[in-house]
Amino acid sequence: MIAAARAAGRSLARDFGEVENLQVSKKGPADFVSNADHRAEEIIFTHLTKARPGYGFVMEERGIVEGTDKSNRFIVDPLDGTLNFLHGQPHFAVSIALERDGELLTGVVFDVAKNEIFWAETGRGAWLDNRKLRVAARRDLHESVIATGTPWHGKSEESHVTFAREVAAMTPTTAGIRRNGSAALDLAWTAAGRFDGFWERNLQPWDIAAGIVLVREAGGVISEIDGGDVLQTGSILASNSDLHPKLEKQLRHAASFGKAASV
Ligand code: IPD
Ligand code: CA
Ligand code: CA
Ligand code: CA
Repeated sequence: MIAAARAAGRSLARDFGEVENLQVSKKGPADFVSNADHRAEEIIFTHLTKARPGYGFVMEERGIVEGTDKSNRFIVDPLDGTLNFLHGQPHFAVSIALERDGELLTGVVFDVAKNEIFWAETGRGAWLDNRKLRVAARRDLHESVIATGTPWHGKSEESHVTFAREVAAMTPTTAGIRRNGSAALDLAWTAAGRFDGFWERNLQPWDIAAGIVLVREAGGVISEIDGGDVLQTGSILASNSDLHPKLEKQLRHAASFGKAASV
């Protein structure tokens, strides 16, 4: 998986150098894809099919490829942070997870521009290259930096209002909020203690699968914001175990904002 991520990263690095020549198309409102995404995905698919014939795939661009081996499937985002990439911002990643018998087993997130490989395997810890990762130890929300993601243009008005309420609840109670534009890296950075926490709603499995393994193996806690299944809804909250209930409380508190006024 690391070799596949590195090979895709080489292709992305070449394309990033000539970003103005890429063909860009729209999959939906503010949902862009370029030939850089497709090229990187094909490289990962070819690498992993050769290394593990028969495994299935869930890929952002190509979709589902059923394998003959029903226990194992890779979950692939060839380029997480497409919008950054297309705007010449060097904050994007390759994200690959392996799910075995319905459980996330391994995760690799490769930050191409910084040449950082974040990887984790259940029971083996989380690593940045060969340094073991641990989530941040901070317990005080007021000292914490929390990452998030904005709902994209085209989402319901309600999802934008929910986001505004959540930010309104978080800004006075934390040291700062960040929106860097790659959910996979937000989770990898939470695993590495660069962020104290991360929340975002309605992500896709390929945005978060690898990052979930990283955060768990770095000693962090992952939950679904409203109590459902995180890979199903993609609404995720990640942090250390001390901050987690405090962040949950802020998100619950956010849900009550404006309610009185609208009755
Ligand atoms: C996006 C990034 C972003 C998140 C979006 C995702 P993409 O993935 O993870 O941080 O806010 O919701 O769609 O499309 O660049 O792979
Ligand atoms: Ca996309
Ligand atoms: Ca993504
Ligand atoms: Ca993507």
